[in-house]
Amino acid sequence: MDWGMDNRLAQLIQPDGHALFLPIDHGYFQGPTRKLEQPGNTVKPLLPYADALFVTRGVLRACIDAKRTKPVILRVSGGTSMVGKDLANEGITTSMEEAVRLNASAVGISVFVGTDYEKESLLNLSKLVNEGERYGIPVMAVTAVGRELEKRDARYLGLASRIAAELGARVVKTYWCEDFDRVTRGCPVPVVMAGGPQVDTELEVFNFVHDGMEKGAIGVNLGRNVWQNDYPVAMIKAMRAIIHQKATPEKAQEIYEVERRAKYNE
Ligand code: 5RP
Repeated sequence: MDWGMDNRLAQLIQPDGHALFLPIDHGYFQGPTRKLEQPGNTVKPLLPYADALFVTRGVLRACIDAKRTKPVILRVSGGTSMVGKDLANEGITTSMEEAVRLNASAVGISVFVGTDYEKESLLNLSKLVNEGERYGIPVMAVTAVGRELEKRDARYLGLASRIAAELGARVVKTYWCEDFDRVTRGCPVPVVMAGGPQVDTELEVFNFVHDGMEKGAIGVNLGRNVWQNDYPVAMIKAMRAIIHQKATPEKAQEIYEVERRAKYNE
């Protein structure tokens, strides 16, 4: 592997082989998502515990302090919205030159396998990989499910993840699902898990993150279940313990409770 590519991946994936990416890119199609209305304020207390930020160039420039931040995975696909006709009809929004200018450690793009725009999104990924390899910038493929959350099973996610890796993604972001080892076994590059919409309890999140790690994920790219939580710092600290210290879900829950009480004196 070329030095630049190797070095950028090492900025993202820590020496233990694991990674905690914090995505705050949701506004690129959802607008001002709850608790992310002011991304700079949301992310500031969380930054010390994240290994990288997943963010668009607009929010990066407007809200993130260039002198006090973490490695950046630049979201470079978009062009659709929640209220538009089809979320899957994305294009590449940001050039590789811009990624270099912003000192990105990687770029991220969604692929929409099984949709009307499957071919376009996969060819966009391929194009981005061609450019990324030229500049030594890794591409993270996001296996998007759009509004159809029922697609989150091992068969579909395994298929989408493998295709993304075959086309040259250096990292694949997918969702946790039952039999997650089927997804990781079939994907020859590192896999990180997204969280999806906020779930009812913290323990549910700790359980699936822990299970995914046991089954071959290298970490998470998980946003809403951290920053939409009432105690986001407690949440990210607990998550970090699972990812980097092999904590059990129960231990993570304990860390969450201790942090929550300490902060709010409850
Ligand atoms: C949104 C994304 C997010 O980065 C991804 O879904 C992870 O965030 P969350 O854990 O909130 O689902 O790609 O387009």
